[in-house]
Amino acid sequence: MVIERHGCDRCHMLHPEKWTFRYLTEEPPEPPIAPQPETQAQPQDIVGSAQVRGEPVSAPLSVFSFGVVVGRPQRDFSGRLLEDVDDWDNPLYFFEPWRPVRVGNKIWPVGQAALPIAKPQITGITPQDGGEWANQLYGRLAEYAQRLTFNVGPSELWGAVPPPLCYEGVAVQEAWLRAFLRRPVSIRPAVPLAMPLYELSAQEVDRLVDYFQAVHSMMPEPEEPVARQPEGAAQQQERFRRLELAEKLIHDTKTYCGKCHRFAAVGAGELATPNEAPALDEVYRRLQVTYISEWVKNPRAILPYTAMPINFPPGEEPLDRSVFDAPPDQQRQAVVELLQNYDRYLRQKYHFSPDASGERTTEPRP
Ligand code: HEC
Ligand code: HEC
Repeated sequence: MVIERHGCDRCHMLHPEKWTFRYLTEEPPEPPIAPQPETQAQPQDIVGSAQVRGEPVSAPLSVFSFGVVVGRPQRDFSGRLLEDVDDWDNPLYFFEPWRPVRVGNKIWPVGQAALPIAKPQITGITPQDGGEWANQLYGRLAEYAQRLTFNVGPSELWGAVPPPLCYEGVAVQEAWLRAFLRRPVSIRPAVPLAMPLYELSAQEVDRLVDYFQAVHSMMPEPEEPVARQPEGAAQQQERFRRLELAEKLIHDTKTYCGKCHRFAAVGAGELATPNEAPALDEVYRRLQVTYISEWVKNPRAILPYTAMPINFPPGEEPLDRSVFDAPPDQQRQAVVELLQNYDRYLRQKYHFSPDASGERTTEPRP
C-alpha cells in the first residue's frame, strides 16, 4: 500500500482510537440533552454512519450491554488520560466520540459532552492507527504553548499537528486532492510543518485517491437541492446583496470568521500562532460543497477537537446583528453560498461595481 511505503501514516492518523465498554442494561449512560434537531444527527450521519452501522452495537445481555466508541479520550497536555472518580471510587475517563455512539436505544452525539467511562467498564482498547509523529509533535507544541501562554486548550492544539485523514474522501474535491498530492500547499497556518513533497507516480496518486474515497463508502447527500430557478435581474441583485453581507461577515474580526481565519496563505517569514485558521478564499475549490455546509453548521460534530465554534446557533439570536441583520439560518446559508462560489462572487462584484474602473479591494480571479 502506498501509504505504508511512504510512511504517510507516521504523521497522519488514519483511524481514531476505539474503546469497547459495558454498562448496566438498566442504566445506560444518559446522552447530553439534544440541541436543536437541525444540529443533531445530520453531520454525524454524513461523517460516519457507514462505520457505525458496520460495528457491533450494544446487544442487550441479561445485565450488561456493550457499546463501541471511536474517537479520542480526553488527555492533558502531557498525553495522560484525564481522570476523575466515579461513585464507587473507580477511575473515570472521558471519551470524545468522533462518531455517534449507540447506548441502549439512544444515540450519544458527536461534538458535545464527552462520554464518561469508568475503568472497570472498559472491555477493550484498539489504539489509533497512525499519527505517531503527530502525537510527538503535539507533546512538543504543548510545551511551547504553555511556556508562551498561548490561549489554546489541550483539545484545540490538535489542530496544529498533521491532520487526521479519515474524512479526506468526503471533505475535499478529487481534483484538489490530486493536485495536492503532486504538489502540497500550506492549508493550516497553525501547523508548524509542511506536508513533504513526494515524487508520486500517476498510479500512486490514483491508488491514494481510491483509498481516501473507499474509507467512505457512503457519499453525503446535498442538504438542499441546488437546482436553481432561472433568476430575473432583480433576484440576481438581491442574491448578490446577500453575498455582499456574507462577505462582510466572514471578514468580521470582532465576532465572526475573521477572528481566526486569514484571507491569504501565510507569507514567507510570517509566523502563525496555533490559533490561526485556514484561508477561506480557496475553500470553493478545495472542499466538497456538502462538507462546507455541514462544517459551518457544526464543526465539532465533524472534528470534535477543533477550535471553530457554531457561529450560527439555530433558533437563537444572531451573535451580532450589526454586520448582517438576519436570523442565524439565513446568515449561515449566505455564508455557505459565498464560500462555495467565492470566485464567481468576486467576478460578479467587479462586474456589478458602479465604477468598474475604480479602486477594487479584491482582485477577481482570472
Ligand atoms: C512529515 C509529516 C507528513 C508525512 C510523512 C505526510 N504528511 Fe500529509 N500532511 C502533513 C501536514 C503537516 C499536512 C497539513 C498541511 C496544512 O494543513 O497546512 C498534511 C496534509 C495532507 C493532506 C491534506 C489534508 C487536508 O486537510 O485536506 C493530505 C491528503 C495528505 N497530507 C496526504 C498525505 C499522504 C498521502 C502522505 C504519504 C504519501 C502524507 N500525507 C505524508 C504532514 C505529513
Ligand atoms: C475560534 C476560531 C474560528 C472561528 C471564529 C471560525 N473558524 Fe473556521 N476554522 C477554524 C479552525 C481552527 C479551522 C481548521 C480546522 C481543521 O484543522 O481542519 C477552521 C476551518 C474552517 C473551514 C475549513 C477550511 C479548510 O480549508 O479546511 C471553513 C470552511 C471554515 N472554517 C469556515 C468558517 C466560517 C464561515 C466562519 C465564520 C462564520 C468561521 N470558520 C469561524 C477556526 C475558526
